[in-house]
Amino acid sequence: MSPDSTEALRHEFAAALGDGGSSPWRAAFAAVPRHVFVPEFYRQDEGGGGWRRVTRSDRGYLETVYSDTALMTQLDAHGVPTSSSSEPGLMLTMLDALDARPGATVFELGTGTGYNAALLAHRLGAENVTSVDVDPDLVALAARRLAESGTRPFVATADGALGYPPRAPYSRFIATAALRSVPRALMEQAVDGAVIVAPIGFGVIRAEVTGPGHAEGRFLPTPALFMPRRLPPGAGPDVSGARNRPPEPTSLAVTAVLAGRWAFPLSLALPGYNAVAWRAADGAVSGMVLWTEDGSTAVAELAGRVRQAGPRRLWDTVEEIASLFPGGEPAREDYGITVTPHTQRFWYGTPEGASWPLPPG
Ligand SMILES: C[S@@+](CC[C@H](N)C(=O)[O-])C[C@H]1O[C@@H](n2cnc3c(N)ncnc32)[C@H](O)[C@@H]1O
Repeated sequence: MSPDSTEALRHEFAAALGDGGSSPWRAAFAAVPRHVFVPEFYRQDEGGGGWRRVTRSDRGYLETVYSDTALMTQLDAHGVPTSSSSEPGLMLTMLDALDARPGATVFELGTGTGYNAALLAHRLGAENVTSVDVDPDLVALAARRLAESGTRPFVATADGALGYPPRAPYSRFIATAALRSVPRALMEQAVDGAVIVAPIGFGVIRAEVTGPGHAEGRFLPTPALFMPRRLPPGAGPDVSGARNRPPEPTSLAVTAVLAGRWAFPLSLALPGYNAVAWRAADGAVSGMVLWTEDGSTAVAELAGRVRQAGPRRLWDTVEEIASLFPGGEPAREDYGITVTPHTQRFWYGTPEGASWPLPPG
């Protein structure tokens, strides 16, 4: 299969992405052969079972590669995806938000397959693109595939949270792995007016650097639901601490929290939180358990009782957020972020509105 045999498919794919509006990035999606970067991927069996490898010789391979689908490209020993080629429609939205014009110097956190780096290089010139990934095997593969597709942006193995000082400063930052806040090193490697586009919580932030160590911006309307961390069979939080606490009353509808209402602000206020249904011995849902990796747990019963343990009172945060938005969740773009050299906060409405701390970058 030569890259050219997919040209018509690529053009059709590029034209159909996103809302179909004009974007300077469509030409890049039409030109860069995604199949070179994703010669194989993993597809999950119906019902969320095991993963099946799909390669170029499988029927439907090309059609899937040139569709608006995220493709899992690496699994760990437990079958948990550790790298993917993101959904092209979301990539287009993030590239548009980046507002990078020729001449911009871009830093990408998360090289993965190298496909996004190739898109950036196509429009901005390979010499202006720096992309890093923590996984040396992925970086080696991406470098090979970038060369195969005829471009050589700078790629390296590094923790993207540290930026890449030897090639700084940068005027644009794009993260393609979920962050909990804006890494301080990126702020230090940014020119004034630099734009940062990054998934934080279940959303994507677009922030502008307004001065040394300072940035401000809003979330894009687009949801970016990154895969929840899966638990190995039998694993779960230790709820014994919470179970031993006296119950406190809660008037919050536990079923609404369990159904994911307020999930977006909670993904920011309680970074990396996990939530699962709590089942009685007969299998019926009787409540939910919420926990974070610092050992905080909350067990809330449908009957309106909650027990909390650990360093953070998680349910108090849930109640605080729910009380602000009794009718459900406002749009993502009503939330924003303010970064200063010492703190980071996400807020609702305006920077002076209700706000919650983000973990330090
Ligand atoms: C969704 S994939 C990236 C997709 C990629 N941009 C592409 O076009 O194929 C996320 C990647 O982020 C990488 N990653 C995770 N944490 C990282 C970190 N701290 N620094 C750099 N890369 C990281 C993962 O190894 C994974 O390859």
